[in-house]
Amino acid sequence: MPTNQVPPAPLRTTEISRLPAYRAADPPAKHADGLLDLANNELTLPPLPAVVESLRLSARSVHLYPDPTARTLRQAVARHFATDPEEIVVGPGSGAVLHQLLLALCGPGDEVLYPWPGFDAYPFLITTAGAQGTPVPLTPSGEHDLSAFAAKVDTRTRIVVLCSPHNPTGRRIPRTELAAFLGSLPPHVVTVLDQAYVEFDEHEETHNLDLLRTAPRLVLLRTFSKAYGLAGLRAGYALAAPDLAGLAYKTLLPFSVTRTAEHAAQVSLEQHGQLAARLDTVRRGRSLLSAGLRAEGLDPLPSFGNFLWLPLGAATERFAQVTLAAGVRVRAYPGAGVRITVGGDEAHRRVLDAARLFRTADT
Ligand SMILES: Cc1ncc(COP(=O)(O)O)c(C=O)c1O
Repeated sequence: MPTNQVPPAPLRTTEISRLPAYRAADPPAKHADGLLDLANNELTLPPLPAVVESLRLSARSVHLYPDPTARTLRQAVARHFATDPEEIVVGPGSGAVLHQLLLALCGPGDEVLYPWPGFDAYPFLITTAGAQGTPVPLTPSGEHDLSAFAAKVDTRTRIVVLCSPHNPTGRRIPRTELAAFLGSLPPHVVTVLDQAYVEFDEHEETHNLDLLRTAPRLVLLRTFSKAYGLAGLRAGYALAAPDLAGLAYKTLLPFSVTRTAEHAAQVSLEQHGQLAARLDTVRRGRSLLSAGLRAEGLDPLPSFGNFLWLPLGAATERFAQVTLAAGVRVRAYPGAGVRITVGGDEAHRRVLDAARLFRTADT
């Protein structure tokens, strides 16, 4: 180093500097590999024709900035739920909307409780928003332990994140338990119910929209990435009381919801019939895959999402290796279990072949 150059000041050690960069377990499988990817809980059906047409039209206006606050999408979501735009927050994906809520509601040292294992981004989003995350373990049967959550709530607790249907176990929180839990919380605590997979749950009553009226500190977090199949475009939203939604809307990164995503999401909301048909296809695939795994002697949990959870404990990694050798990538949670996205017939055939090999080597 030349002697007249001032050495750089040492960087401050912060929570961010200690944080590992957000990981993707593996880069997405490339079609060229011949691998089928059931590791990411994507919709494995192609985009709807109306979405493809919307993308074609959007291509003509990519030289223009989008609306900085995606008002059209906010209004479209409000219309869809017959509610007021003031009760809607939008953002580039539901993960981003959760981050907006965290930024808006948490100050330094505020605590956020979240279920674990859970969506990998929770600890990352909480820490980067400057809050303190506390994981709350699921029960051994893959359910939320709401009494453990309740026991951890104190004056520092600002947000409780719950997830139903839960990623990775597919279990949903029973409605009466959820309502009782919400009723038991002190008023300074906001509950964010992550419903990324809710459309795959055929039971409307567990969509819990009506609870927004009785629990004013409840936020329902939703996405266009899963049932609507727009994971690559990035659009999500939340339903909440106007005071909460208004705060979280202020932390939306300006221009972050692209015009393309905004338009495709709006178009998707109008495709009721086609969406219903797709949900039926996924649910049918889920039942068939579950039955097939059972026939091979495995025990997937009953799931309400577009994926199944196999609690395999110490055998988890071996199962993931056997499926990979059969040409399918699944998501392994080392020492706990494997999450398998519902896919097409060929992917399921490979998974079931792998399950047979796995069981044969077992016996
Ligand atoms: C439980 C859960 N919540 C939120 C998300 C984020 O979805 P997105 O940001 O694509 O809307 C995911 C994605 O996998 C998820 O599994």
